[in-house]
Amino acid sequence: MLLLCISLVLFSIGWESAGAAQILGLFAHPGKSHFNFFRPIFTALAERGHNISMYSYFPLEKPIDNYTDYVFQGMPVLTDIVDLQNFESDWKPLGLPFKIPTYFMLHDWGLRSCKVALNSPLIAQLLASPIRFDVVILEHFSNDCMAAVAHLLGAPMIALSSCAIMPWHYKRMGSPFINPIMPMNFLPYTDEMSLIHRINNFFHFHSVSILYNWITQPATDELIKHRFGNGLPPINEIVKNTSLMLINQYYALTGPRPYAPNVVEVGGLQLRVEKPLPQVRI
Ligand SMILES: *[C@@H]1O[C@H](CO)[C@@H](O)[C@H](O)[C@H]1NC(C)=O
Ligand SMILES: *[C@@H]1O[C@H](CO)[C@@H](O)[C@H](O)[C@H]1NC(C)=O
Ligand SMILES: *[C@@H]1O[C@H](CO)[C@@H](O)[C@H](O)[C@H]1NC(C)=O
Repeated sequence: MLLLCISLVLFSIGWESAGAAQILGLFAHPGKSHFNFFRPIFTALAERGHNISMYSYFPLEKPIDNYTDYVFQGMPVLTDIVDLQNFESDWKPLGLPFKIPTYFMLHDWGLRSCKVALNSPLIAQLLASPIRFDVVILEHFSNDCMAAVAHLLGAPMIALSSCAIMPWHYKRMGSPFINPIMPMNFLPYTDEMSLIHRINNFFHFHSVSILYNWITQPATDELIKHRFGNGLPPINEIVKNTSLMLINQYYALTGPRPYAPNVVEVGGLQLRVEKPLPQVRI
């Protein structure tokens, strides 16, 4: 009997560890360039036998096994309609770049896509379905409302960032921001800044972090309350539960940075097997 019990336990552990994970992807931001970084991670997981349920604006062109698309509707997909000039304001008070308007642009996009996704029938069906997930993978970018869905599902959260980590992400991940050597991502500085550039860096980092706390987070809490009623923790508490954050950044380009171990630079992760370079005769 004891032997039978032990072998049953071993069998179940072995079966568990060989079993596929149920993975939920929640991507409410309609940016194609962002998703180009995310998708290869999920197709690789599907190839390894994990079951992907993907909620996004970007279904696979050719369906593959172990990957089910659920496609949000209601936001224009940002492919080539983003005018990059929006990021390049020419206004330079005191001769210094001033990028606070970029925050307002991101805030506005984030809130609009949050509203659409939260109220999507897909999310209602997801929450009503009996399926439970081993992990939820979502994006940390300009709005956190999908983290409320992960909280309601009671699954651990992994975050991806398709661009350089935003100022408001450091605190939640417990990572330090070292002003003199780390230019915040809206500014065109490197790790070698003059005193005046460091002051501008300090001003930008703290201004947009405060704006995020004072404007974006309360507005997100309001949308969540409107959708799910009272009773959820504030969104800035929920996001602190993020177990891991993978960022599309690479130290050879930005200079080394002291991230906590839960923030991992994975720039280039989306690249597939490289082709050999053509032979060049010298
Ligand atoms: C789908 O997952 C199974 C295991 O659940 C795996 O054997 C199979 O190779 C996967 N299919 C594809 C196309 O990757
Ligand atoms: C994979 O996930 C889908 C939901 O997206 C679910 O319907 C299906 O049953 C799951 N498959 C397995 C093998 O767990
Ligand atoms: C964070 O995760 C822990 C462990 O899963 C859970 O008990 C707690 O309620 C979560 N907190 C929030 C704010 O989501």
